[in-house]
Amino acid sequence: MGLRARILAAFTIGALVLSALLASVTYGLVRSSLVRQRESAAVNQAYVNARYLRDSLRSAGADVSVLLDSLENPGGGTPVLLRDGIWYAPLGIDREDLPGALHEAVAGGEPARMRFSLDGQTQLGVGVPLPSVRSAYFEVTSFSDVEGTLSSLAISLLAAALVTTVSGAALGASVSRRVLRPLAHVSAAAVAIAGGRLDARVANIDDADLGTLVESFNEMASALQERIERDARFASDVSHELRSPLTTLSASIQVLQGRRNDLPARARAALDLLVADVQRFSAMVEDLLEISRFDAGAAALDLEEVRISELIMHALLAATDADVPVAVAADAVDCVVQADKRRLVRVVANLVGNAQSHAGGVVGVSIEVADGQVLIGVEDAGPGVPEQDRDRIFERFSRGAAGAGRRGRGDGVGLGLALVREHVQLHGGRVWVEDRGAGEPGARFVVQLPSAVPPSSAPEPDPGPAVIPA
Ligand SMILES: Nc1ncnc2c1ncn2[C@@H]1O[C@H](COP(=O)(O)OP(=O)(O)O)[C@@H](O)[C@H]1O
Ligand SMILES: [Mg+2]
Repeated sequence: MGLRARILAAFTIGALVLSALLASVTYGLVRSSLVRQRESAAVNQAYVNARYLRDSLRSAGADVSVLLDSLENPGGGTPVLLRDGIWYAPLGIDREDLPGALHEAVAGGEPARMRFSLDGQTQLGVGVPLPSVRSAYFEVTSFSDVEGTLSSLAISLLAAALVTTVSGAALGASVSRRVLRPLAHVSAAAVAIAGGRLDARVANIDDADLGTLVESFNEMASALQERIERDARFASDVSHELRSPLTTLSASIQVLQGRRNDLPARARAALDLLVADVQRFSAMVEDLLEISRFDAGAAALDLEEVRISELIMHALLAATDADVPVAVAADAVDCVVQADKRRLVRVVANLVGNAQSHAGGVVGVSIEVADGQVLIGVEDAGPGVPEQDRDRIFERFSRGAAGAGRRGRGDGVGLGLALVREHVQLHGGRVWVEDRGAGEPGARFVVQLPSAVPPSSAPEPDPGPAVIPA
């Protein structure tokens, strides 16, 4: 059960138990005091009447029925008199209605009282022997009014208990909401931080217990942010420091290359190796610098409106000498996107470079428009990328099965696709790899970018993809 449900249950059950306890105690107390009052009033009345009857019957010639009728009975008691073996019951209560034990006790000369039930109602029977006039006086009092009062009391107590329980539940719901609100804020901030917004914090709250939680959460987030930023700065500082010796190295190598023909064969071979390695090293340092700019949040788009087909063609020319067929869909020819040219050129260069080093070169590039998005496909006829690697190869320093084993000359270090993804995401787009399809071996890397201009409202009949050599 969640915390919210537990708080709610505790409040509801607490209110229920408390109100049930109060109600039953109140009912018990009221009931016993009411019954006691009623009983003592009835007994007193019976004794008063018995005394009056005894005194009246002593005087000769008294008419018993008239006497019984004349009895005062404010408590509603019904009189029954036994005199000389004759029963006088003017008001409907018969001798059979009286419990036998009451008879016997009174016949034995003892006054007695007894509660019994008649027609489903509780009655109190009081019997007083009057030996001096050879009689016994009984009075039967109904408790129905007390029972009526008690049942209305029970109904109101039940209603009160119900209202209390419902209010307890409502209070529990509001308390749990208030208690959990800061926790919801903390979890929202945690989600934001996990999503990359390192500066997300929780607003401080005025609560001794939860305030500590919020404070330590914010401290943790700050420490994390500082740590991540420091790591990012470290990578960028190292790359910066490497840059200037590398520049010197490149310049010296250039000088050497100018005199390449004067060198002996072995030195020439060594120089070639050196040139390749220094180039690879420089590219890596550039990539590291680029990626550390993303980490520092310093990567800013330099946007302009560009015709995507032109840009891709231009980038392909720069990236490869091979004749790559480019299929531009009719509606993509004039498609314009908001793009940072330099970054898109790098994206194309990295994809083409990968196709060359991992898959034998690019065999085709396609540009199409769908749902306001431009799709740029770069295809090769290489081994393709296995299903389980298709996410992983876009991570930093991750080299797929093709590149993992050999860490040889000319291979990258696994930053190329990570950079591609960063560049594309900065544009609000996506990149993924899929099978080339149509039964052909190879991979297709697809870059999806939002297009600036919605596809023309009246599309012309599609003449099929136009093949334009790069
Ligand atoms: N066109 C491709 N065909 C097959 N595998 C590829 C292709 N492009 C990239 N890969 C795989 O993705 C991995 C990561 O690529 P990348 O990030 O550019 O790193 P690098 O090229 O430095 O190895 C490569 O090592 C390779 O295994
Ligand atoms: Mg690469």
